[in-house]
Amino acid sequence: MSVTTVPHPAPDPSAAPALAVESLSRSFGGIVAVDGVGFTVHRGEVLGVIGPNGAGKSTLFGLVAGSLKPDRGTIRIEGVAVEGEGAHGRVGRGLARTFQIPRPFMEMGVLDNVVTAATGQSGERVWASLLAPGRVRREEAQAREKAFALLRFLALDHLADRPARVLSGGQRKLLELARALMTEPRVLLLDEPAAGVNPALLDFIIERIAEINAQGIAVLLIEHNMDMVRRLCPSVLVMASGRPLAAGRPDEVMADPRVVEAYLGGSVH
Ligand SMILES: Nc1ncnc2c1ncn2[C@@H]1O[C@H](COP(=O)(O)OP(=O)(O)OP(=O)(O)O)[C@@H](O)[C@H]1O
Ligand SMILES: [Mg+2]
Repeated sequence: MSVTTVPHPAPDPSAAPALAVESLSRSFGGIVAVDGVGFTVHRGEVLGVIGPNGAGKSTLFGLVAGSLKPDRGTIRIEGVAVEGEGAHGRVGRGLARTFQIPRPFMEMGVLDNVVTAATGQSGERVWASLLAPGRVRREEAQAREKAFALLRFLALDHLADRPARVLSGGQRKLLELARALMTEPRVLLLDEPAAGVNPALLDFIIERIAEINAQGIAVLLIEHNMDMVRRLCPSVLVMASGRPLAAGRPDEVMADPRVVEAYLGGSVH
């Protein structure tokens, strides 16, 4: 993606939402982890998803990204129903996600971790490199260049050749983000990008997410850090026990007695 700050055009209200989810549900045995959740996110919007531990937020992401199958409900990316497609197909439609717990290839270099997010290692590539070695080499050089630009954007370029295991918790979150951006998403799902991040890095991550969003990318943001939520999300969806509990401006929903009760004893600031 380009990371220069070209202001994106105002969202076109008549266009299909970047992501539209309706009546999504999923149980694990007796636990209803996601229960009738629906929302829409348009191009250039950030929607926060908050709620106490175990509310079903990460399960919701798994369902939207295609790593989990819903029991019922619909998921549309730019107007196209994708419930029948796997995770890979949804990446092809412009969806990318980061995981709550980053899973880099620890012994692999930081740059290579980003490059492999886009290319993978399919049999198709083996044939391509036999039949068109020049083209494959060119594509690989381009992918490395793009990955390096993303590392620069996320201030990880000085660590490009180091194994991922040397990264701090916050830097692993940034690497997750670089891997997601490598696929050039138009819809980006971020699962707790601030968890375990030190305060100095937090401001940087917020700034970068704002910049990504300013390119027109629709962002769905799961986060417990309410400072980050307030700064990035004009509106949030609150989940509790799998169900959508409230929606609105962050301060508005946090003042809602039902939301306060859902967090009962939890630490919401
Ligand atoms: N693969 C699974 N098998 C069985 N139960 C699961 C599975 N994944 C999630 N759950 C259960 O579903 C519920 C929702 O979990 P989920 O991880 O989606 O919550 P969350 O809102 O992301 O919580 P947190 O804020 O702690 O990350 C929990 O009760 C959890 O134990
Ligand atoms: Mg979670």
